[in-house]
Amino acid sequence: MSAVDIDQYKIKQEPFYKSVSDEVELYEAAYNARMPMMLKGPTGCGKSRFVEYMAWKLGRPLITVACNEDMTASDLVGRFLLDKEGTKWQDGPLTTAARMGAICYLDEVVEARQDTTVVIHPLTDHRRTLPLDKKGELIEAHADFQLVISYNPGYQSLMKDLKQSTKQRFGGLDFDYPEEDTETDIVSRESGVDKDIAHKLVQIAHRARNLKGHGLDEGISTRLLVYSGQLINKGVEPTAACSMTMVTPLTDDPDMRDTLNAAVQTFFG
Ligand SMILES: Nc1ncnc2c1ncn2[C@@H]1O[C@H](COP(=O)(O)OP(=O)(O)O)[C@@H](O)[C@H]1O
Ligand SMILES: [Mg+2]
Repeated sequence: MSAVDIDQYKIKQEPFYKSVSDEVELYEAAYNARMPMMLKGPTGCGKSRFVEYMAWKLGRPLITVACNEDMTASDLVGRFLLDKEGTKWQDGPLTTAARMGAICYLDEVVEARQDTTVVIHPLTDHRRTLPLDKKGELIEAHADFQLVISYNPGYQSLMKDLKQSTKQRFGGLDFDYPEEDTETDIVSRESGVDKDIAHKLVQIAHRARNLKGHGLDEGISTRLLVYSGQLINKGVEPTAACSMTMVTPLTDDPDMRDTLNAAVQTFFG
């Protein structure tokens, strides 16, 4: 086993995270019970930022894995590699986290295939173990290890969903776009635009979010509002900044684009 420098996964500076409810306290309680956690909510609403903040607050290293459908169990657990001296085992990120007592964050876990997802099962019940079948080793998770997954219910379909046997191993926290004043503060703070401009961006997003399910698959995320603010802060004309970040990425439908651009005009025209 190659020694891994766990310090590289420590979060050195406090990430800016504005709590929206009692999620910080609830997560802390869950961590103290070493309960695996599931964060649910649309893309760009603050799930990853929240995990970074909690890892910092709890003083734990954070290992994040962006899941995708090509990911195999070996990508999580590890594999034998060939080098000059022969074969050498290399731990995957999940194994490293379990050994070192990190928080392991599997981002967008529904994207992974079910045969990949099941490797987390023995880590997420009373066993807290991880079998490295190919290596013939059974790891006992470090006392500080915790598993967190994120999950966007919007992408959920019959084909792509977690099995109940997986779901029912986690405590869950619901996330959503923050309410108006909070989101205005976040956008202003993250992008550098003043509160007045940030508030306009948030109001445009509110109009667009009402179109979800009526031609839009997802609303405008907090992330995109921050992008808009960043461009405006760099001197880009607000309607152009909004088009670029809040219209073009979201839809190709010409009518829907007109509708969104009209909402932008209402506030910045
Ligand atoms: N509660 C929050 N506090 C601070 N920043 C936030 C918050 N919610 C969203 N953001 C901003 O939105 C961006 C996207 O959030 P992120 O955590 O990456 O979304 P997700 O993981 O849900 O897709 C962040 O980079 C941050 O700028
Ligand atoms: Mg994320």
